[in-house]
Parts: sequence; C-alpha cells; structure tokens
Amino acid sequence: MKITMIGTGYVGLTSGVCYSEMGHTVICADIDEDKIDQLKSNECPIYEPGLKELIIKNSSRGNLSFTTDIDEAVKLADIVMIAVGTPSLPDGGVDMFYVEEVARKIGKSINNYKIIVNKSTVPVGSADKVRHIIQSCTNIPFDVASVPEFLREGSAVNDILNGERIVIGVDSEKAKDILINTHAPFNIPIQVTDIRSAELIKYAANSFLAMKISFINEIANLAEKVGADVLEVAKGIGSDSRIGNKFLNAGIGFGGACFPKDTLGLISIAEQVGHDFAIMKEVVKVNSKQYLKVIEKLQSVYPKLNGKTVSILGLSFKPNTNDLREAPSIKIIEELVKITNGNINIRVFDPISMEEARGQLPNSIEYCYSVENAVTESDAAIIVTEWKDIVEENWVELAKCMNSPIIIDGRNSLNLIDNDNITYLGIGRKERALRLVNPL
Ligand code: UDX
Repeated sequence: MKITMIGTGYVGLTSGVCYSEMGHTVICADIDEDKIDQLKSNECPIYEPGLKELIIKNSSRGNLSFTTDIDEAVKLADIVMIAVGTPSLPDGGVDMFYVEEVARKIGKSINNYKIIVNKSTVPVGSADKVRHIIQSCTNIPFDVASVPEFLREGSAVNDILNGERIVIGVDSEKAKDILINTHAPFNIPIQVTDIRSAELIKYAANSFLAMKISFINEIANLAEKVGADVLEVAKGIGSDSRIGNKFLNAGIGFGGACFPKDTLGLISIAEQVGHDFAIMKEVVKVNSKQYLKVIEKLQSVYPKLNGKTVSILGLSFKPNTNDLREAPSIKIIEELVKITNGNINIRVFDPISMEEARGQLPNSIEYCYSVENAVTESDAAIIVTEWKDIVEENWVELAKCMNSPIIIDGRNSLNLIDNDNITYLGIGRKERALRLVNPL
C-alpha cells in the first residue's frame, strides 16, 4: 500500500515509520521544513528509542520518504492518514483547526479513490467532519476511517510493532478490506468496529488509565493518613486480574501530551451532548494537586524553604523521552520559586531534557551534569522522573554528599525506606518504625 502520513509528530512519525517497516511505501509529510530536512538527512527530531534506526533502514531501502509537498504526497497515496496535533482549547475542548486544515488540503488534492484515516486523537464525530470538508471540495469517491494509535512515548516503536490490538473504525466494506490487509503484517489482533466507537475507544482507553493513576494516588494519600503502604495495597489489588497490576504506580500524577489533554477532551465531548462525566472531572482534579505532595513533604522537613538548596532529579514527564509537556517537574519548580519568592537554589539534572527545559524554567535554575553534581551540598533531593540513570545510582553514597540526607521520592522508585541514615519520604509509603509489627 502507498500510505501518506500527514503530520510528523510523535504519532505520525512513529506510526509512519512502522508502516514502512511492515513493507508499505510511506511518505511522511509536514509543513515544518526544518523537521523534514532533518528527517531527510536521517536525523530524528524526537528522542524515541529505536526510531532513528528504523528511519535509516527504511529510507535506505526506498519505502520511506519525507516531504513538505502535501499536494503531491496526497496524490501518490492509496491511504492518507491524518496525524496532526489536536491541542486543548482554553475550555478543555479539542482544537480541530489543524485536522480541518488538512482535510481541506486533501479535498483539493485528491485525484482518485483513497481512504482517509484519522490517526490523531479526535472527538467523536470528527471523521464525519473530515468527510464533509472533503466532500465540499470534490466529487471523487473516498472513504473515511478511524484507526487510533495507542503508543506510549519512550516505547512507541515497540508499542506499535508489538501492540495488543489494532482498532479499525470503518463504514464501508471496501475500506474495511483494504485496512485489514494493510494492518495484517503487524500480526496483532484487529477489532473492526464503527467509526464513532473507534473514536471513543481512544479517549476511553487513555481516560481509564488516567483514572487508574488518580485512583492509586488517592489511595496513596489515604494510606499516609491511615498508616498503610500504597505499594502493599497496589500489590494486593493488582494481583486480581480483573484490576491488573499495571498503572498502579502512585506518585506525583500523570503528565505528557495525552492523558491531561484527553481527560479534558472526554469531559468536553460529554458536555457537548449534555452529559456530566463526573468521574473524569475528579480524575483531573486529583491529578492537578498531586504534584504538590513532594512540596508538602519537603516543608514537613523544612517549614521554611527560603535559602535552601534543593535538587530536582528528572525533568521529562516520564523516563525515556525528552518531552516536557505537562511535566510535574515544571510545576514543582515554579511552585518552589513562588513560595520562596525566588529565595531558593534549585539544581536540576535530567539525562536528556535539559536543553528543552532551559526555555521553560526560571533563569535562576542551575543545570547540573550528573546526579552527583546536582545533589552535592543540597539540603534535599526530589526524584521527579524515574530515569534509570537516576534510580540506579548508589543513593546511600550520594546521600553522604548532601548537606542533609533528605530524599523525597515522587515516584516511589528507590528502596531506601529502611535506611537509618537517610530521611526517605515516598508517596503513600509507611515508615519502617510503623511497619514493624508490634509483638504484643
Ligand atoms: C499514554 C498511553 O499510555 C498511550 O497508550 C497513549 O497512546 C498515549 O498516552 P504516554 O503519555 O506516552 O502514553 O505515557 P504513559 O507511559 O502512559 O504515562 C503517562 C503518565 O502517567 C506519565 O506521566 C507517567 O509518569 C504517569 N504514570 C503512569 C503514573 O503516574 N503511574 C503509573 O502507574 C503509570
């Protein structure tokens, strides 16, 4: 199949590259000339393990190319996939500007039957919107479909190539047959459904996972008050296969390009049809406050933070990505600067995202070249992102370089709770003295 992917962000680029890996001839198109130039010279504009290698491999075997000529890319395709951004509007709704713009371009360029696939996370009913826009430009027959992407940043290539399901939302037999054949090489179970269900599946999947995270975070917050340990609770409930043990890591909340946007998106989709999606509102509310937990813990040790030196370990919203969108690190740093009127020394380290962070963090931040460099002579260290490079350090030794061995673990990623020489504060954890069973 000849596939044109419009939009080379996370979803578009990784899925386009993976379709080429499956043997399809893929053109990735974008209006961003710099990005396309980078890709043409085998440079990968995002940090995503394994992606660059696949770009080089498939470009050199001739089934992957990059262009800014969207008109020609549409004309050459059997299937045109829309994978442009759908940012949040100020009211939490979904901004469809870019998707609609692409639909208009497709309408002007379409030259023979094609399937137009929405890959972007778009509100229910978007495929119909795309159909109407294209129909208003042309009489050439086409079908629309929804094939949502479930990739996670940092493991996107693996998630696409070894996914658990492919959802194909279609309303024509022709499109159904073509899309089933197109996805057959992935050898992943395919669910064929109607278009609106496919569109809702994407929001429901992300929102459910976000709900699991806010739920376990609330259990953690409760565990602290009743003297329980969230790791034990997560283990105890996660071994029930109806619940499952994934996405039960309590911490400082979810960030990234998807969960924050898609939870708000689902609330807004519901509101538009007069449905009050109360659960999701609470999920968002819990998450909006969860990052403050590490600051509360810091203040439990230092009621006055003015003049203190605090190291922040990890900046990206999760490990294995340089993405800082909705990253708790930024909110934590901004809050620390705010409550101290800037009278605090913040030293940060992240293995990948320090350059991106420079534009977003206050000028006073000190960027460090290693974990050790960041924690040396600091009054407290806060683990914000559980990068391997951070959690696999020898923290017992590192603590000796600190002014005070205070470690606040926003991801419950270190095993220091029993160490007598370190004040270790996780999220929803129970200190050793409390955990020892009283013999009598
Ligand atoms: C998510 C979905 O997993 C993916 O299927 C979808 O296509 C896009 O959105 P992503 O945002 O890349 O992917 O990251 P993910 O690994 O799901 O983590 C999202 C956020 O939740 C991160 O901030 C992470 O730290 C947080 N998280 C995740 C927790 O706090 N606890 C957990 O147990 C799991």
